[in-house]
Parts: sequence; C-alpha cells; structure tokens
Amino acid sequence: MTDSDSPILPPGYRLIAREAVGSTNEEARALVAAGVSQGTVVWAESQTAGRGRYGRDWISPPGNLYCSIILRPKVEASRLSEISFVSALAVRDAVKTVLPPDIPVEFKWPNDVLTAGRKVAGILVEAEKLPDEERTALIIGIGINIVSAPRETSYPATCISAMSRAPRVSRLLTALVAALDRRVEMWTRSGFSVIREEWMNHAYGVGDQVTADSGVSGVFAGLDETGAIIIALTDGARHRLVSGSVRFSGIG
Ligand code: BTN
Repeated sequence: MTDSDSPILPPGYRLIAREAVGSTNEEARALVAAGVSQGTVVWAESQTAGRGRYGRDWISPPGNLYCSIILRPKVEASRLSEISFVSALAVRDAVKTVLPPDIPVEFKWPNDVLTAGRKVAGILVEAEKLPDEERTALIIGIGINIVSAPRETSYPATCISAMSRAPRVSRLLTALVAALDRRVEMWTRSGFSVIREEWMNHAYGVGDQVTADSGVSGVFAGLDETGAIIIALTDGARHRLVSGSVRFSGIG
C-alpha cells in the first residue's frame, strides 16, 4: 500500500489493514478478545468468508470496501441496537461524498443502504461482552460496493461505479470513519430521536406495501421510538417488528 492509499482516521482511531482475511468481523472479534481498544478499524482488500445478515455470504472481491469498526459506546445496554441506524446514517454520509448530488441514497429497514433503489452497502453489527469488561464491544461490519456488486441476490444490488467515477477505497474509508465518529457523537449527546428522524427523512418505501419474513403484510408506516418498523394492517391495527427483514412489493 502506498501513502496515497492510506486512509486518514480521526483522533482516537487505529487502523489494522490486511490484504485478504476470512471476515473483518471475525478478525475484529479476535481483537476484542485480545483486549484491543475502542476505535480499532479492521480493513481488508478482500474477504474469503465475508458474512451478511442471517448467515448469508457477502461476496468480497478486491475493489470494494470491507471494514469492521470496534466501538464501546457510552449508552445503556438496552439501547445498543440503535447503533445499526447510527451506522446507516454514517454510510449514507460517506456514500454521498462520492456520488452526484441528484442520486438518492436511502435506507431500507433495518439498515441497508440503497442508491437509486438498489442495495449498495450492508451493515452487520455484532456484540461481544467480555465477562471482565464493563461495556459491551460492538463490531460494526460494513461492506460498500464500489466497483462490483453481486448478481444473484434476493434484493437488487448495485455499485458506486455504476453511477459515478469509482473512488479509492481508502478515500471512502476515510469519509466513513469520520462520519461514523460524528454520528456516534450525535447519538450519545442527543439520543436516538434525532437519528430516527433523519433515518425516516431518507427511508425507502414509506407508505408502500411491505411484507415481513413472518408473512405479515401492510403499509410501511414508520419507525417507533426504539427503531422497530411499524406496519399498518388493512384492519387498522399496527404491527411492530423489532428485528428481521422486510420485502417491498415487486423488489425483493
Ligand atoms: C448484510 O447486508 O447482509 C450485511 C453485510 C455486511 C458485510 C460486511 S463486509 C465487512 C464485514 N465483514 C463481514 O464478514 N461482513 C461485514
């Protein structure tokens, strides 16, 4: 790696750069067990066993961004799940810096990031609580498609180079970690309501027909104060879904 390929991280962050790993989340987990500090960023050029949500594979050839950021946020344990929305805002901020301003960057519940309606980035948050440590470590795994996107996916995928000139991976990582640092600060200072409000301002499919994994179907009506999705049913009831995934009619 040359100097111009080196990401610049905010104060308090430390980079561990690798060529190929199984999964950056797995590397990060081992580092947490070894006692590494908050703010460690594991970045790999490619992954041989990249993981998505629900045990899905995250195909990880060179050219895209794969990283895992270790944080120990100063919030109550019951609020840690909010970090996936905080991270999604940071991914949107970073992706926005490399795309033309007219391309919409939106969120699909709970934390997929879409550009022009297709998935451009995924987030996999894993928690690790060591018995002798007071605060839970969060491993925020982020994959952003820069030069390639998988074809056979349940939800249509895209990459940045399909819409604009591909940025250097290191430049996008610089923008991402800076954005995450700002968003986490905003969250710990002001609470989840501001995060939720901004997420909703850029939510994909509000008012559209949506179906949960369980088969419950209705209209995507918003998020509650914890980040659960609210699905309005035809009989007027409101179904609240805390975790899982949803499909919008016609598009996976
Ligand atoms: C998803 O949308 O299913 C989440 C995908 C998360 C992929 C990233 S790539 C970096 C980190 N390491 C992994 O193995 N997974 C996450």
